Amino acid sequence: MPDTSAPRFALAAGAPAGTRADVLVLFSEESSRPNGPVADVNQALAGQLLRAATEEGFRGKPDQTFVLHTHGRLPAARVVLVGTGPREKSDAESFRQAAGRAVKAAQRLRARSVAVVLPGNPTETLGPIAEGTALGAYRFDQYRTEGREERVALEAVRLLLPDGAARPRELGDILHRVLQVSEAANFARTLVNEPAGHLTPQALAEEASRVAKGHGLEVKVSGPRELKKLRMGMFSAVGQGSLNTPRLIEIAYRPKKGSAAKARPVSLVGKAITFDSGGLSLKSAENMADMKTDMAGSAAVLGALQVAADLAPPFPVLGYLGAAENMPSGTAYRPGDILVSRLGKTVEVTNTDAEGRLVLGDVLAYAVEQHPAAIIDLATLTGACVVALGHWVGGLFSNGDALADELLSAAARAGESFWRLPLVDLQKETLRSDVADMKNHGDRWGGAISAAVFLREFVGDVPWAHLDIAGPAVAPRERGYLGKGATGIGVRTLAEFLEKRARDAR
Ligand code: BES
Ligand code: MN
Ligand code: ZN
Repeated sequence: MPDTSAPRFALAAGAPAGTRADVLVLFSEESSRPNGPVADVNQALAGQLLRAATEEGFRGKPDQTFVLHTHGRLPAARVVLVGTGPREKSDAESFRQAAGRAVKAAQRLRARSVAVVLPGNPTETLGPIAEGTALGAYRFDQYRTEGREERVALEAVRLLLPDGAARPRELGDILHRVLQVSEAANFARTLVNEPAGHLTPQALAEEASRVAKGHGLEVKVSGPRELKKLRMGMFSAVGQGSLNTPRLIEIAYRPKKGSAAKARPVSLVGKAITFDSGGLSLKSAENMADMKTDMAGSAAVLGALQVAADLAPPFPVLGYLGAAENMPSGTAYRPGDILVSRLGKTVEVTNTDAEGRLVLGDVLAYAVEQHPAAIIDLATLTGACVVALGHWVGGLFSNGDALADELLSAAARAGESFWRLPLVDLQKETLRSDVADMKNHGDRWGGAISAAVFLREFVGDVPWAHLDIAGPAVAPRERGYLGKGATGIGVRTLAEFLEKRARDAR
């Protein structure tokens, strides 16, 4: 399922006003006098660019976009002005968002080629602008047949350095890295957007094997019989109601050199419920509609492993995807069933829709056996987290402040938002069972916390963080570089996290 529609990116130098392209993109700050490339292009158009933009109310606000057709007065057929807001408030994310909006505008204008003029210091602006453009250009339209002939694909993006400016060698490296990460995020988005009828646990395993082959990673897939042998009673139970049987997918990056190969791994665990009907505790039609996305955590893990392969950090990165389809059937697990987990703890099922924690509990316990330096799980785990934080912010739980802070700052660098929520010990009371060590579901109050507290039972003393991405896995509307649909949340945060750890370890 590789994204074949992605445009080619290249660095180039030249005067914007002399650049040939279907669309020329210029960034414009709010309420500051246009200077640099905006002023140059405006001059080449005899002042008409800014006159028209001002007439249309364009002031460089961070949600504004303005299009001008040049009608042959410039080699570029159209100019797109995008606002980045006031200079003192603009950061990497402002450029990502603005670049994303610009490339979406260019696509709506049916552009094949876009030239993006890098503002300010290119060593700072290239990364976010290339990333926003690569993410913004993403589309999931392979299932649309209508209008296929007339569809125009964006083929080439040129990132323009000011004419005569020095061209530091690191620019090529920055572009290369950012495109690898964006490609991994876009790959995760496609996995999440893919319907559950196609992306079964088995298909996900095949996808992981393809990724492994392409990136020189190890892969191991265990089916339902092996899961039983591994004594993953909770994971097995969740998968037992579906003809599409469960898979534990292990995908590993291992450094070749001696000491690095023996370093303690960073382990990443992803929830991969390829479809969550709720099981016998069946969801309503409304709540079930989007449940093909219940594998977004594992998509992020697969994306992060691609990045790890490219990054080659001096420690192993181990990915674990717990893949199952949660279905109601004659073979499905039932409310009242008592499951024996890999760790030996017993769990009474009181709601088959609280399936993610059952799968993750077993997979976390298994991952912990390798004594990782840190273990991070990503899961579309609770609707309660969406109630708490909405669609633009994920929940972060951790048993350690250092790991929590490390992840929060990685997320901030990446332009992904997480908010730390507490692991409230008292919340465990809600999971008390009359017949087993615990129940899988208590009550609605603090539901995101109860789920995290349940997971904590399976990680022992290992530094662990849990990212509940039920909200931000899917964007409810187009915004900046995100279209409506899967976001690839987690990939870029994990990329920043691994990159920083790799730098610190060398
Ligand atoms: N996959 C859902 C959580 C979810 C909800 C993800 C909305 C994305 C959007 C999870 O398996 C689930 O069903 N959680 C239940 C838990 C409850 C039964 C304890 C929920 O949140 O309602
Ligand atoms: Mn569920
Ligand atoms: Zn689920």
